Amino acid sequence: MSGAPFRVELGDITPHNIKQLKKLNSVIFPVFYNDKFYRNVLEQGEFSKLAYFNDVVVGAVCCRLENCPNGPGKQVYIMTLGCLAPYRRLGTGTLLLEHIFKICRQRKDVDSICLHVQINNEEAIAFYQKFGFEITETEEAYYKRIEPASAYVLRRDTTGL
Ligand code: ACO
Repeated sequence: MSGAPFRVELGDITPHNIKQLKKLNSVIFPVFYNDKFYRNVLEQGEFSKLAYFNDVVVGAVCCRLENCPNGPGKQVYIMTLGCLAPYRRLGTGTLLLEHIFKICRQRKDVDSICLHVQINNEEAIAFYQKFGFEITETEEAYYKRIEPASAYVLRRDTTGL
C-alpha cells in the first residue's frame, strides 16, 4: 500500500458492532464461528478488539482467559486473530497481539499465551514465531471441515514480555 500516511487503532467490541466482527471473521477464516462464540466474545471484555485502518474495520483479535491445563496459573487462548488480506503487512496483526501482551504484563496470573493454527498456514506461523511463539504440539484431526485437518499448538510464556 502506498500514498498518504495511515493510522491503525483498536476499538472495543460491543453489541453495536459485533456484526462487523462476524462479517470480518467470515471473510478471513475458513472456520465458521457460531452465535455462542460471539456471545462469549462480548463477555471477554478487553481480551477482544477490533482494528481500524483509517476508521475502517480491517482486523480483530478474540481471546479467552482460561485455567492452565497443567498448573495453577492461567493462560490466554487466542481464538482468532486476523486482518483482511489487502491490509496485511502494515502492522495491524502486531498491534492486536501487542494489546494482548499488554494485558498479560498488567496481570500477574497469566503464565502463557497459546493458540491453534492450521499446519499449512505459513504466514501465521511466521507471524507468531516473530513474537516468540514456538510449536509445542501437533493435533491431528483438530479441524472438522477443512483440510489439512491438523493443527499446531503455538505457545509462549509471558515471562519476558
Ligand atoms: N510471511 C512471513 N512473515 C510474515 C507474514 C508473511 N505472510 N505476515 C506477517 N509476518 C511477520 C513479519 O515478520 C511481519 O513483519 P514485517 O512486515 O516487518 O516483515 C510481522 O509478522 C508483523 O506483521 P503484521 O503486519 O503486524 O501482520 P499482519 O497485519 O499482516 O497480520 C496475520 C498477520 C494476522 C497472520 C495475517 O496474515 C492474517 O490475518 N492471516 C489470516 C488469518 C490467520 O491465519 N490468522 C491466524 C490464524 S491462528 C489464530 O487466529 C489463532
